[in-house]
This record gives sequence, structure tokens and C-alpha cells, in this order.
Amino acid sequence: MTKQILKSADPELYQILRDEIDRQQNKLSMIPSENFSSVAVREAVGSVFMNKYSEGYPHKRYYEGNENIDKLELLAIERATKLFNLPSDWAVNVQTLSGSAANLAVYLGLLEPGDTIMGMYLPDGGHLSHGWSYEPKSKQDHNILKYVGGSRKVNITSRFFNSIQYKTDPKTRLFDYDAVEKIALEVKPKLIITGGTAYPREIDYKRMREIADKVGAYYLADIAHEAGLVAAGVNKSPVGIADVVTFTTHKTLRATRGAIILAKKELMAKIDRAVFPGLQGGPHNHTIAGIAVGLYEAMQPEFKKYAKQIVINAQALSAELIKEGFNIVSGGTDKHLLLIDLSEKSYKGKELARALDYAGIVTNMNTMPQETNPPANPSALRLGTPWITTRGLKEKDMQKIANWISRVGSIISTYESSDFEDFDKQAKDDAKIKTVAVEVKELCQRYPLAV
Ligand SMILES: Cc1ncc(COP(=O)(O)O)c(C=O)c1O
Repeated sequence: MTKQILKSADPELYQILRDEIDRQQNKLSMIPSENFSSVAVREAVGSVFMNKYSEGYPHKRYYEGNENIDKLELLAIERATKLFNLPSDWAVNVQTLSGSAANLAVYLGLLEPGDTIMGMYLPDGGHLSHGWSYEPKSKQDHNILKYVGGSRKVNITSRFFNSIQYKTDPKTRLFDYDAVEKIALEVKPKLIITGGTAYPREIDYKRMREIADKVGAYYLADIAHEAGLVAAGVNKSPVGIADVVTFTTHKTLRATRGAIILAKKELMAKIDRAVFPGLQGGPHNHTIAGIAVGLYEAMQPEFKKYAKQIVINAQALSAELIKEGFNIVSGGTDKHLLLIDLSEKSYKGKELARALDYAGIVTNMNTMPQETNPPANPSALRLGTPWITTRGLKEKDMQKIANWISRVGSIISTYESSDFEDFDKQAKDDAKIKTVAVEVKELCQRYPLAV
């Protein structure tokens, strides 16, 4: 990394950037929503495209000087159309700023305030932007798969819409499509949403379409997490089945931070107006440039291999963790992510995630199906393989990672800490955890990132 101009212009910020580069280079980033984009993507994002205002859509702008921006946006749209095999009656919007904003645009375009929406229960893996609210300190009966939310409307989507959520089956921890259908028939939603942040299995989009049709609902498939796997044909695609598909562009798709909406043309007319002028002003053209480059990269044969390897690695990691005595939610994964159920361990997700970070493995604590603990101190740990696969790690490395996770788990299970602060201090100073960190760093150095 040179960045000499930044270094002399703003040494303070440069130092923070330097430290972040070292962190990314020397630790294994295993948060499933993160990835490491290419130098080409980052050059596009850091380009002069950021200087241009272009409210409106190609050839229908409110400002002059958009001849190049029009080409840029049309190129991104063309690439998304090809990559996701769009039917001829579907359209693309690349302007929305991020995944939550994309979902909001769909709601603003297709719904009225107070309409009923039906998404997946957040602790089972659903996303905040699918209508999350809760009742503090209330206990959940996990056998009742319909969740009506509570007074704490933490997301705009539960404040503006009547949000009813479906849970996963308490035994299998998988979608119970018959239960989803029953709830839909009862509450008659205007929109049904699938997708989530922590659901490790593929979703039966055709079955969900049938349910939506039975109750006359729109069907939104949010594939924020698996977009790259869908683009590569490694996971099934909801395009042409759902009415609308949204996704972030920075997770498995490995472009830059942003989002894309795909929808039937007649719906997209309304969604386009919801994006602009409904929710945003000028699009972030540098982001659209990064997305366009990322889409181009995802159209190359190597990306297919990469996406396959993401899933091979996640499945290998899951199998190795099971050998190490961990309980994996739903027994494995079809995708890039897995959840370790820690309910039978003496530590929870928050402790394990912190100790692993000191060991050089970056993960996140997560809720899981039948969660009995609050989101700030949940029972599970979420892991993903997109970034480490970008580094070039393969199945044999998953064995090492599972072993390190197991070692760190054994180390912290001997702690007697009074509270999290005390735990944190012990983990930070622990010589055995430091030994793991040295081994992790050695592996990272064998697979350097192109910064
Ligand atoms: C399923 C799903 N939808 C939407 C989002 C929101 O994306 P963003 O963080 O870009 O707003 C996420 C992010 O993790 C997600 O997992």
C-alpha cells in the first residue's frame, strides 16, 4: 500500500487506515456478511465518479453533465441483467444505497402504511428490515410459530407496517412451509418476505410463491447474503419466481457496499419512484461504479469456482466443528454461513466471539432458533467463509480453524469471571490465546490480501 498523498495530507487518518489494513491482513475475517473486494472494485469506488450529482435515471436526469454517468448506470444494469438471468419482463435498480434502504424502497413502492407484512422471526435468522419489534422481558413459546411482535418497534418497518413473523420448526430449525401458509391464510399479508442474516439453508422459493399466490400477497426474496452464490448458480435463484428480489452487493457477491433491486417491470416503475424521489436524492455513482466492476468479475468463470469453494469450505468447517464437539444449527449449511449453538457450553456467543477475536478469528455473536437470551448476549456464534475463501483458503484449512475455535472454547471454559469486563481482561492477557493468534497470523501471511 502506498497512498503517499493521503499519508502526507492527513497522517492521523492514514495511521488508522494502516492499522485497519494490518488487522484485515493478519486476522481471519469470518463474519458471513463481509468480504474482501478487489483492487479494481476499490479503484472504481475511490474514483471521480463520486463528484457527480445525477438525480433521476439514465437519460432522465435533473442535472446536466451526466453523459458518462448514464453510460455507467446502464452498464451496471446490463451486467446485473445478464448475471442474474433476468426474464425480459423484469427490470433492475442499482441506485439504492444499501440492503435496508432497498427493502424500504420496495415497501414504499408497493405498500401503504399499516399494511400487513410477513417476514422471518429475527432471532431465527430474519433481518431487522423485515419488520422487527419485540416485547422486553416477554418469554416466547417456541412451539407457536406465529410472532406478532411487541411494543419495542426498533425498526421503521415495524413502526409503519403491521408486522407478523414466522418462526422456524422447533425441532429441525428449518422453514416450516405449512406453518408459514397457515399464518399467511390467517393474517392475509400484502407482502411476504423471505431471506435472512443467519439462516444456513436454502429456501424453497417456489413453495413460498404458492403461499403468496394463495393469499394474494406480493413476494419479496431478500438474497442479501447469498447473492454471489445465486449469481454463480451454486444456490437456487428466486429471480422469475418472486415478484421482487433485493440484495446487497458486498457480501458473497464481493462487489462494493451497496444494493440492487430486481423486479417485474410493472412493479419496478413504482419501486424506482420510491428510491428516487421517495427515499433518496443523488445516487452514489462511485458505488454504482464499484458494483459494475464487481458484477463484471462475478461474470467470469473463476467466480463460479470461488462461489463453489465458499460452500465447500463452509460445509467442511461445519463437519470439522461437529467433530470437535460443537452443535451446528440445522446440522450443517447449504451456503456460506453456519451457526454454532452454544447452549450446552459454559460460555455464550459474546464471550467466544471476543476470545476468538483475540486469537485472530473475527466472528460475531448471534441469536439462534429457540433463543432464550437477549440479542446483546445471545446463545450462538455465526461464522462465514466468503472472505477467507477470497484469501484462497481450502478445506484443509477449515480443519485448522475448527481446531483453533475448539482450543479457544476449551481455554475460556476454565475461566471464572465475575462479569464480561473481567472475562475480556482474562482473554486479552491469556498466553494460550496469544499462541493461537500467532498460528492464525502465520496462516494469514501464507494467504496475503491484495491491499
Ligand atoms: C437479509 C439481509 N437483508 C438486508 C440487509 C441490510 O443490508 P445493509 O446492512 O446494507 O443495510 C442485510 C445485512 O446484513 C441482510 O442480511
